[in-house]
Amino acid sequence: MLPGGRRRPRADSRFEELRLGPLIPGARLIILGRQGAGKGTQCVRLSRHYVVPHISTGDMLRAAAREGTPLGVEAKKIMDAGGLVGDDIMIGLVEERLAKPDADSRGYILDGFPRTVAQAEALDEITAPKPINVVIDLDVPREIVLERISSRRVCRDCGTNYTADGQEPSPWICDVCGGDVQQRADDTPEAVNRRLDLYESQTAPLIEYYSSRGALAVVNGVGHPDNVFQRLTDTVESRR
Ligand code: AP5
Repeated sequence: MLPGGRRRPRADSRFEELRLGPLIPGARLIILGRQGAGKGTQCVRLSRHYVVPHISTGDMLRAAAREGTPLGVEAKKIMDAGGLVGDDIMIGLVEERLAKPDADSRGYILDGFPRTVAQAEALDEITAPKPINVVIDLDVPREIVLERISSRRVCRDCGTNYTADGQEPSPWICDVCGGDVQQRADDTPEAVNRRLDLYESQTAPLIEYYSSRGALAVVNGVGHPDNVFQRLTDTVESRR
């Protein structure tokens, strides 16, 4: 009670949030799904929502390629051909990233890792002290992802995704950062088909791996991105 018998005003929740930090709990998530399923698109949103880093192994490799590091030069050749970078390299990269304070404290969204059973087994060991909350399979049929990838254009600098509709400007400048918007070097029909075949042989077995451990949730990735996002957050909350 304040002097004069006035009641103390109730704390405004937005003010409390600014004062105390985000009230939403973090999350430790793995997002699986075919190439073009919308993992990158949704992981950016999930990362903002849960205030945790979006760890995309594809983005890490593309950044290394742009910087011209020995790993980046080697990885670029493999990526452009639609192949997979070696397990040992990928496991080392991810282990190092997950140990950083942001991921260690609030969690992370893993996009593009694991991609093989060997990577999943290594990740189980790395995350044993703080296990993953849920593994989500973002499910989109092959014919739909092929359509999405053929019209995907990406900002070379910030990675924002765009969809080409035949009316795009040339040169195409990113609305977010002013960078060049281009087709990804691995979005050629040959490389995309190779990546999708590798997904079926190497990555689809992870669905069974996580399902048999009771860790998997399948989320329909077809529909407006806002609806897909709602399905994803509903799934995460139902697994807490
Ligand atoms: P990576 O960058 O991970 O590529 P990917 O797996 O091929 O996945 P994509 O980026 O193609 O698809 P996405 O699901 O993120 O879809 P997006 O959101 O863009 O990996 C690249 C390469 O790196 C690999 O091939 C490999 O060589 C190497 N690599 C990476 N990790 C590795 C690992 N662990 N081990 C070994 N090698 C590794 O969406 C696609 C399009 O659809 C966009 O245009 C988007 O705007 C649109 N879209 C999204 N959602 C919707 C929607 N709901 N409706 C309509 N359109 C939508």
